Amino acid sequence: MRCGLLLGAVLGLAACGKPAPEPELTARFTPEQQQLLQQGSLRARSCAACHGANGISRQALYPSLAGLPEAQLAEALQQYRDGSRKHALMSPQARGLTDDDITLLAAYYALLPGPSQP
Ligand code: HEC
Repeated sequence: MRCGLLLGAVLGLAACGKPAPEPELTARFTPEQQQLLQQGSLRARSCAACHGANGISRQALYPSLAGLPEAQLAEALQQYRDGSRKHALMSPQARGLTDDDITLLAAYYALLPGPSQP
């Protein structure tokens, strides 16, 4: 996935085939959850540039999203979108999201194991 992330960030595309969560990561989920992970990883392609592959950020500037509570993620995205929470880098990312996008992205990141989980 590394080349996909690096080249993807440069080209703005997924460069190394299908962007998908790591197989060893998806193996522990139910088929329904795996489908959610698959859809979420597609929708989250643009987010990965800052928030990291699988929602784990490598830079302190960008919070990790993996494993955060779903309601917290959805609320933050709604607030960036409606302007009640503002950030120069993050607000423009949320502006174009639909309600369905927010629901999917929040469910996706909540499902991923956080940085402190094995
Ligand atoms: C250009 C870099 C960048 C991109 C791309 C980006 N974000 Fe962010 N995001 C940030 C930064 C920086 C913050 C911290 C902002 C703050 O402190 O309010 C943040 C914060 C967040 C938070 C709040 C986390 C919390 O609990 O405080 C969520 C949720 C989030 N981003 C989701 C997303 C999603 C979903 C996408 C893709 C649609 C995305 N971001 C794309 C930079 C980015």
